[in-house]
Amino acid sequence: MSKEFKIYRWNPDDPTRKPFLQSFFLDLTDCGPMVLDALQKIKAEVDPGLTYRRSCREGICGSCAMNIDGTNTVACLEPIDPDPAKPLFITPLPHMFVIKDLVVDLTNFYQQYKSIEPWLKTKRRPEEGREYRQSPEDRKKLDGLYECILCACCTTSCPSYWWNPEEFLGPASLLHAYRWICDR
Ligand code: SF4
Ligand code: FES
Repeated sequence: MSKEFKIYRWNPDDPTRKPFLQSFFLDLTDCGPMVLDALQKIKAEVDPGLTYRRSCREGICGSCAMNIDGTNTVACLEPIDPDPAKPLFITPLPHMFVIKDLVVDLTNFYQQYKSIEPWLKTKRRPEEGREYRQSPEDRKKLDGLYECILCACCTTSCPSYWWNPEEFLGPASLLHAYRWICDR
């Protein structure tokens, strides 16, 4: 069962070539179920130059974020649509500077995250000078605020961020900053 994957390509080492979509065809009966599996297969068996980030393949690290069929998501958790009549489009996270192929420059995103000092602070010294103990009640206050894996899918799909990335922190950093409001 052959499926077409149309993948954004751009190589900074070849400035004569503009970005383009390259088609790859894979037999889905010989490929893992997720979009990251398809990318891994293409890189391993067809084009080792295909460039993207990935690490955990478990939806934990956030590094394989990209735009798949028009939606920002992590490729390791996105199942391949098996319909052979529909090509699957893979492009970088939108409105970001592309470094190569599906890899975007996240420097500004991480600097904004750093700017909100996203670590827990306390005025107390730890008991016996050793470890900080957290009560179940205090831990519960973080529910909904700690799960972010910094994939940047939300921030790079936010029109306010597209127009004003120098000033607007974007939803991911604001989510982390919101912890301090809950911690008062
Ligand atoms: S809050 Fe944004 S950056 Fe964090 S995991 Fe969700 S989509 Fe990714
Ligand atoms: S490889 Fe880590 S979230 Fe996809």
